[in-house]
Amino acid sequence: MTLQAADGLLACPHCGGRLTVGDRVACPRGHNFDIARQGYLNLLGGPQPKHADTPAMVAARRRVLSSGAFDRILNLVAEHSRRAPRVLEVGSGTAQYLRGALGEDPSRCGVALDISTAAAKVAAKADQRIAAVVADVWGRLPLLDHCVDEVLCVFAPRNLAEFARILAPGGRLVVLAPNPGHLAGLRARYGLLGIEADKQERLLASTSEFFERTVTSRLLHSVELPAELAGDVVAMGPNAFHHPPVPEGVIADQLDVTLYVFEPLPPAGDLR
Ligand SMILES: C[S@@+](CC[C@H](N)C(=O)[O-])C[C@H]1O[C@@H](n2cnc3c(N)ncnc32)[C@H](O)[C@@H]1O
Ligand SMILES: [Zn+2]
Repeated sequence: MTLQAADGLLACPHCGGRLTVGDRVACPRGHNFDIARQGYLNLLGGPQPKHADTPAMVAARRRVLSSGAFDRILNLVAEHSRRAPRVLEVGSGTAQYLRGALGEDPSRCGVALDISTAAAKVAAKADQRIAAVVADVWGRLPLLDHCVDEVLCVFAPRNLAEFARILAPGGRLVVLAPNPGHLAGLRARYGLLGIEADKQERLLASTSEFFERTVTSRLLHSVELPAELAGDVVAMGPNAFHHPPVPEGVIADQLDVTLYVFEPLPPAGDLR
């Protein structure tokens, strides 16, 4: 049962108490939660918002990540992950990046957190060491204070105050974000949403309250996307809400992303 991987990490969304994972999941105050038939735990406490990734988006993402087209990015994240014992991936989608970060060591464990139940169903089957949890990254994360050694955030929303709260001493935050050139060919060809030119500066400015940057690594790599795969690249992203993909032929494009590693700043008032 993959949810056991999160035993000792999860916090009750009602009272913050430690959740114990058994046949059900419960806190000492008696709040309890059913484990879904598909093996994930839903701690959202309400309906899934409309912007959550749909089953079709998740299926497209899985095909893209399994095709090899994004392997350079998967490898970049795995290389910079410190092979930490306990890893949280937020906005984890299919949890393929988390799986890469865990490497082959059976003693490591991961929590894949996403607001989409469609994503959680896939993440729950990704690896025995991965627990899939449905929750909103913009709320209080359902994790205990200082309980994980690494937070991964790949093409996903960032709640920096919460990441700082849940990271253990010596822990790290690994963020991967797209640059304006990322899949720019597809974006131009299909009139898709662009990436703001100042996205990276805003990311760095927002992190500086809680974190110190220790690594910056840019990846620029040409890819050739056959028509079907190009359609999946469009269909797996937010553009799927607005633009049905209609590609033809092979599309030459590029991956253009930057990975950052951050370490938490000491708490204010710490005179070390
Ligand atoms: C662009 S996808 C990236 C997925 C995965 N990290 C990857 O790169 O394959 C963004 C993911 O964030 C999730 N997401 C969006 N808003 C969220 C929120 N408020 N809380 C948790 N997850 C969220 C989406 O459901 C989606 O799976
Ligand atoms: Zn509780």
